Amino acid sequence: MTVKGGGKGGGRGAGSGTSRGQGTSKGTGPASGGGGARGLRVNVKTAGKRSVSSARWLERQLNDPYVAASKREGYRSRAAYKLIELDDKYRLLKPGQRIVDLGAAPGGWSQVAALRVRSLDGGDDKRGMVVAIDIDPMEPLPGVDFMQMDFLAPEADAYLKGKLGGHKAHGVLTDMAAPTVGHSRTDHLRIMGLAEAAGQFATEVLEPGGFFLAKVFQGGSEKTLLDLLKRHFSSVRHVKPPASRSDSAELYVLATGYRE
Ligand SMILES: C[S@@+](CC[C@H](N)C(=O)[O-])C[C@H]1O[C@@H](n2cnc3c(N)ncnc32)[C@H](O)[C@@H]1O
Repeated sequence: MTVKGGGKGGGRGAGSGTSRGQGTSKGTGPASGGGGARGLRVNVKTAGKRSVSSARWLERQLNDPYVAASKREGYRSRAAYKLIELDDKYRLLKPGQRIVDLGAAPGGWSQVAALRVRSLDGGDDKRGMVVAIDIDPMEPLPGVDFMQMDFLAPEADAYLKGKLGGHKAHGVLTDMAAPTVGHSRTDHLRIMGLAEAAGQFATEVLEPGGFFLAKVFQGGSEKTLLDLLKRHFSSVRHVKPPASRSDSAELYVLATGYRE
């Protein structure tokens, strides 16, 4: 499958490949690379108008093996590798599944999901579905039904359920993150608010055995979400894929085995 079109953040769609195993595998993935597209470290100077923080960001981007791999392999974001790594480990995505991707732009997770549930090229019985929304626009992706919409808007719930066409979903993914304001407590609470709303939504749309994967942040205030998930899923765990930067407080909660 060839996917064209740049999205928020630019880039191309993931190119041809098997529905699983694209991207990383233990010891051979981007994380094991030496940094920089050719293994050479790039240093960025704070010349001219560039601030120290933007120079630091640029230097990190240029030396990030996941950024290089996403360009090479046609993923719209380095975030794609977080889902690839988690799915390779926990075997969540399967051909024929219906998946909801919340906070999808620029589209890395949606690309991975579309490939793995085979929403474009599965036969009649193996063709999956990816329904995605984001508050920001996203360039179209084949095999992904995208709508620009605030997940917290009153109409989002009915819209997403309508897109599932009366069926239940096999998985709900949320990588939603509100723009940070730099105040860690506020940022944390905003992410948790999004994750809790997504968790509530998941308990309404998942079919028995379904899964929920959500971005959270380390540092308290997760009790409401965890209590909800423990009531409705047979397994709830925190996971941090190698692609999630070790110096970031980002963490994911993975709940599997949905039960009503
Ligand atoms: C880290 S990015 C997602 C990256 C994506 N998983 C990928 O692989 O390309 C987080 C996204 O959450 C979206 N977002 C934040 N708040 C949202 C909301 N209330 N409703 C929908 N999307 C939201 C942002 O616009 C942003 O695109």
